Amino acid sequence: MTETTVALPADGWPPGFLWGTATSAYQIEGSPLADGAGPSIWHRFAHTPGRVLNGDTGDVACDHYRRSDEDVALMAALGLNAYRFSVAWARIIPEGTGRVNQRGLDFYRRLVDRLLEHGIEPMLTLYHWDLPEALDARGGWSSDASPGWFADYARILFRALGDRVRLWITLNEPWVVATGGYLFGDLAPGHRSLGETAIVAHHLLRAHAAALATGRAEGIRHIGLAVNLEPQYPASPSPEDLAATARRDAFINRWFLDPVFLGAYPTDLVDILCAAWPVRSQSTPDALRAPPDFIGVNYYSRSVVRNDPKDWPVKAARVRQDGRPQTEMDWEVYPQGLTDILTWIEGRYGNPPIYITENGAAFADPLPVGGRIHDRPRVAYLRTHLMAASRAFHQGVDLRGYFAWSLLDNFEWSHGFSKRFGLVQVDFTNQRRLVKDSGRVYRALIRRCGGRTRDQDEPHSEQPD
Ligand code: FCB
Repeated sequence: MTETTVALPADGWPPGFLWGTATSAYQIEGSPLADGAGPSIWHRFAHTPGRVLNGDTGDVACDHYRRSDEDVALMAALGLNAYRFSVAWARIIPEGTGRVNQRGLDFYRRLVDRLLEHGIEPMLTLYHWDLPEALDARGGWSSDASPGWFADYARILFRALGDRVRLWITLNEPWVVATGGYLFGDLAPGHRSLGETAIVAHHLLRAHAAALATGRAEGIRHIGLAVNLEPQYPASPSPEDLAATARRDAFINRWFLDPVFLGAYPTDLVDILCAAWPVRSQSTPDALRAPPDFIGVNYYSRSVVRNDPKDWPVKAARVRQDGRPQTEMDWEVYPQGLTDILTWIEGRYGNPPIYITENGAAFADPLPVGGRIHDRPRVAYLRTHLMAASRAFHQGVDLRGYFAWSLLDNFEWSHGFSKRFGLVQVDFTNQRRLVKDSGRVYRALIRRCGGRTRDQDEPHSEQPD
């Protein structure tokens, strides 16, 4: 049996399991300044020459802002019972604080209503990287005021949509916000400073805690945090490689989860990073402890690690796994890593409810043949990772849902439109959507495993048609 034909477990998924796809505002919406919205840091970054491949921007993207009804109908046709999306802060509060833009709220209210009409559960992410430009001008996440700005914005959304959105996420991937935006500089706002990164990370933790407290005060009960996790495996059993693996694990996997669940930064990280910012980073642990109601896990790959004094900042380098399957992002395809990271969360943080809020793969898709796109590597990726998720569930992980990244091919940040993650192809010349074989397989699987269409008398085929 090959990876593409391996049968997926149809039973044994928990009752009420969510079968969704995920997107984010700047990556799909387009029309970034429409209806009174303010610019975001991604709008500015993408319009800065040399920042994004081929000069691509999110000006049009998937034109979802104007096609959301059509896209919700597509989700319904795929049989999804859930959809994760993010809200663009600068559509709601164009200057980042203060005046609320009703037309921005109206867009998301209408989207949510359409989803609910189709029996699709919305999962709303408050922050997926598109900080209002006006706030960046005031220091952005480096500002001590940023947690308060975020909590005020969150309150507006909780009040506007709290009666119809059940599942909320404060931040998407705070590690990537801090490192991509302020350490490596490949994401907006494009800074490169270790000291600033440590401060930003601290403010993101405070922002999460502040939004959580605000949500509690507003009676919101399901508030999560979405983190990118990547299990780390030593390249050899040498003490040096084992220590390097632990450092990289602290850096990527524990930097945010330890504070929110355990109230303190990982000790093996404090020495490395917080030397850059000694005072605040060791401030009262309780201020950081803010256990979310669920963890959103964004899983794409793993790392094999060796000690490397030249690596910055953690002296622990990722070893390329030649000969193993890789995606177009140069990420190794490693489904077992998903099982491992889910069971790791269960053991370390006391078995919190978990949604897989992102999982997927970029591959160069073949041209359509007879209206079909045979994206076999993505089909294999989807199947094997769902198997891995199911194994974790059977090992005791409190898994509540799976959101494939992504519904549509979209704007992949500094890679522009060159990397395609969609279950649905987007032809960016005319905005036509075409469901790939991976989307067809997902639909068949959802039918079989008990999604929204479980009561329909459908033939139980996992083939793409
Ligand atoms: C994640 C991001 C998401 C997307 C995927 C490929 O880190 O959250 O927006 O870019 O990677």
